[in-house]
Amino acid sequence: MSTQNQTNNHRNTQNPGETTAVLQTEKLSVYYGDTLALRDVYMEIPKQRVTAFIGPSGCGKSTLLRCFNRLNDLIDKCRVEGKVFYRNKNLYSPKIDPVEVRRRIGMVFQKPNPFPKSIYENIAYGARIQNRKENMDELVERSLQRAALWSEVKDKLKENGLSLSGGQQQRLCIARAIALKPEVVLMDEPCSSLDPVSTQRVEELIHELKEEYTIIIVTHNMQQASRVSDYTAFFNAEESDKGNRFGYLVEYDETGKVFSNPQAQATKEYLSGKFG
Ligand SMILES: Nc1ncnc2c1ncn2[C@@H]1O[C@H](COP(=O)(O)OP(=O)(O)O)[C@@H](O)[C@H]1O
Ligand SMILES: [Mg+2]
Repeated sequence: MSTQNQTNNHRNTQNPGETTAVLQTEKLSVYYGDTLALRDVYMEIPKQRVTAFIGPSGCGKSTLLRCFNRLNDLIDKCRVEGKVFYRNKNLYSPKIDPVEVRRRIGMVFQKPNPFPKSIYENIAYGARIQNRKENMDELVERSLQRAALWSEVKDKLKENGLSLSGGQQQRLCIARAIALKPEVVLMDEPCSSLDPVSTQRVEELIHELKEEYTIIIVTHNMQQASRVSDYTAFFNAEESDKGNRFGYLVEYDETGKVFSNPQAQATKEYLSGKFG
C-alpha cells in the first residue's frame, strides 16, 4: 500500500498484493452540515486481515468506520461524498439496501450494548428477524463458541445479557455480530471500556476471527494496534480555511512498517506520544 499525505492525496492506494480488497474508498469526504469532518480518503481494506485505524481524537476514524456500513445514514445532517465500494459495488448506489449492508458489514461499538434480553435471545434475535431456517440452539452455541464466551455462559443462557461483566458483554456483542454471518466486522474502540484481562481476551478473539472475517478496528491504544493488526492507517486532523478541523489519512501500510519506520513526520510524532 502506498502512503498518502497532503501533497499526494489524489493518488489511489495500491493493493497490498497478496490479498484482495473487500472495501475501497475513492475521494471519500464526510460533512456534518456544512462542516467538513473527513477529507479525500482513498484506501483499500484487505480481505481476511485486521486493519487498525489510529490517530488523535476527532480525526474522523469513527466517521470513516460508519461509512463502511452506512451507519452515517442514521445521523442527521451527515453527508457522504465520493465513493465506497464493497466487493466492487458502490455501497451508496440507490440500488443498495442499507439494512443488507449492515448485515454483511457488522459493527461492535465502544460501549458494549447487549439487548436487554436473555443471552440466548441476544444471538437468536437477529437470525429470527432474518427468517433464517437454521437450528437456533446450534447457531447460539456456535456463535458463543466463536466469541470465546460459551463456557462462561452455557449454563445461564436465559439470564439477561446485561447481567454479564463488561468484558463478557463485549464478547456477547461480538457473538451477536458474527451470528449474522457478516463478511466484515467493524470495531470502534471495542476494548476502551474493558479491563486488561477482558481486553486480552478480545484481542485473542480478533486474532482468531481474521481467519474468517475482515476486521477493521479503531483503537486509541497503539500497543493494541501493533499486537492485533496486519495493516495500520494513521489519520490526523488539520485546520481548514474556515477554522474547523478535519481529518485525513496520512499513512497506511503494513503495521510493522508503520511502527518501525513511519514515513510522515506526523506519524512519527504521534507514535512517540508527542500528541494524541
Ligand atoms: N454526529 C455528529 N454530528 C456532528 N459532528 C460530528 C458527529 N460525529 C462526529 N462529528 C465531528 O466529526 C469529526 C470527526 O469525529 P469522529 O469521527 O468521531 O473522530 P474520531 O473517531 O477520530 O475521534 C469531529 O470534529 C466531530 O466533532
Ligand atoms: Mg471515534
